[in-house]
Parts: sequence; structure tokens; C-alpha cells
Amino acid sequence: MKIERTFPETRMRRIRKNSGLREMLAETNLSRTDLIQPIFIKEDLSGTEEIKTMPGINRLGLDILNDEVGKIVDLGIKSIAVFPVINEEKKDETGSQATLEDNFICHAISSIKKSYPDLIIIADVALDPYTDHGHDGLLDKTGDVDNDLTLPVLREQAVVLAKAGTDIIAPSDMMDGRIKIIRDALEQNDFIDTLILAYSAKFSSKFYGPFKDAVESAKFFGDKTKDTYQMPVANINEALHEVALDIREGADIVMVKPGMPYLDVIKAIKDEFKVPTFAYQVSGEYSMLKNAVDSGLLSNDVIKESLLSFKRAGADCVLTYFASEIARELS
Ligand code: PBG
Repeated sequence: MKIERTFPETRMRRIRKNSGLREMLAETNLSRTDLIQPIFIKEDLSGTEEIKTMPGINRLGLDILNDEVGKIVDLGIKSIAVFPVINEEKKDETGSQATLEDNFICHAISSIKKSYPDLIIIADVALDPYTDHGHDGLLDKTGDVDNDLTLPVLREQAVVLAKAGTDIIAPSDMMDGRIKIIRDALEQNDFIDTLILAYSAKFSSKFYGPFKDAVESAKFFGDKTKDTYQMPVANINEALHEVALDIREGADIVMVKPGMPYLDVIKAIKDEFKVPTFAYQVSGEYSMLKNAVDSGLLSNDVIKESLLSFKRAGADCVLTYFASEIARELS
């Protein structure tokens, strides 16, 4: 029987007819250069150690660090973000290890840099891995983080990280004014080409739970919150305000964190400022997806789907614990 073809005038299905067309007309793509692998490096550890709340992710000892980083480089990943897990006994109220030039993370960074000079190393500026209370800065008498007391410490921390060979300094502490103070310090110490990736819109999120386990700060931090410095999860105008300030203070790249629940924030920032914008698919997002995939609840393809959503929202790169796994699939 002949079908009467008067409707529809526009057939959306025409452009989806085969995989060639679908690939040609893809508006966004995921590539290995979009992916940044965060790694946890543990002081005094030899070999690797599982992180219980992040299945498939290990803490790395210094002895195997360069081999493990080599695997990431071989996958075509251009950048890693390093997080220190320091010896518990060295944690103190002021996070004094953070500003030591020969602390173990500086040591790790210079060793990676020696073996892989082209790999772009991102290092966090914040005191939480170093303090015995788990906060990102120094405390005032009431137990709140004191902004202006913390700034000079962050400044020093940024400089020792730059000296060790860090390419991108990433303040994740959310103190007011830290980008300017760090930029000035980098300039004064001749690190004019060291970038600043500002965790500008960093929300006070429960999705960071597994990370606190990963850097072994969970038991020090307990059930406190970072609500007086990280952003309220309900706010987007405030995120734009934070970004505007960080750009004015000298940030080269801004970041939104967590990722998937904040795609609207990424989009708004990119539309408004058109600056390099990263997203952080954080530990809780990783563990959630990983558990769902491992238990067979969801197909493995949800990982790529989640990463593509960042690209669609406007992110240039994504920090994700899935970086190596997905780079392997893409290669
Ligand atoms: C430290 C920091 C955190 C994360 C990155 N840097 C934890 C926090 O702010 O509590 C979280 C990353 C993740 O959950 O994967 N300031």
C-alpha cells in the first residue's frame, strides 16, 4: 500500500539514519585531551593501597609513582591533578607541612616532572590534607576558618608547589582574595608562566565524601561542614560573582565543582565570561556511577554519557577519576 507522504515536513530522524551521519553531526565530542586524571599520592606508602569508598582507585606510593604516571601518559592524557595523603603524625593545627619546600608532595611533583616534563601537573592549594581538624585553613577562636590569617599560608604553599615544578596552581580553599595574593606571589618569584586554576564555584557538597576518605582526613574532619567558605548549593548568581572576582584577581582558568549536579552553573559561566572553564566530576559522582556499573545496574556507557554532558554544558576539560578508563576506550 502506498503511504501518503504529506507530513512531517521536517524529519529529525533523517539526520540520525546511520552512524556516519550521527558522528558527523555530533555537536560535541569527547577526546583524551579533555580528561584530567586526579591521583592520590601517599607518604611512606610502598606500592598501592585501595581506597574503599572509591572502587578501582588506589593511593600510590612514591616507589611506584613514576610507573603509574607513565601508564596515564601512555594513554594520551595530558594532565594530572595530584593530591597528597600525608603521614598522620605530621598533621597539625596549622597544616605546617603544607609550606615546607621539601615536603613529600613537592618531592613527588619534581620527580614526576623529571620523568615526564611535558605532563601538565595541577596541584591543589588548601590546607585540609595537612591540618588535624581537616579544614582548608587556619582557625580563629570560635573554630571558624580565619580568611586573612589563612591567606599568607596559602601564598607560601603556592610558591613551594610552583618551585617543585607544578604547572597549574589550583586554589580549592575558597578564601576571599586568594587568587590575587597567589598571583602576586608567583609573579614576584618569577613564576610568570605558572597558571592559576581557580576552584571558583566550589559548592559545600556532600559529594566530596569519598575524597575525605581518600586523603584520610575523614576521621579528623568528622561531621563538621565547610559551609562558611564553600558555596551554598542553591546559588548560581553567587557562583557568577565568585568567577568574576577570580578572573579579575588573575585566574587563568575557572572551575565548577562538583560537576554533574551543577551543569547549569558551567553553562552560565561559559556563556557569561567565555574563559577557559573546567569541571570536576568529584569522588562521590565517581563512586555513584562506578557502583552502578559494577553491580550491573547501569551500562558502562553512562560514564561517557556523563562526561559528554560536561562538554555540552561548555566545559573545556574535566577532572575525573574515570580519565584513564575512558582514555583507554577512546584510544
Ligand atoms: C580540598 C579538596 C576537596 C576536593 C578537592 N580538593 C575536598 C573538600 O573541599 O572537602 C574534593 C574532590 C573530590 O571529592 O573528588 N579542599
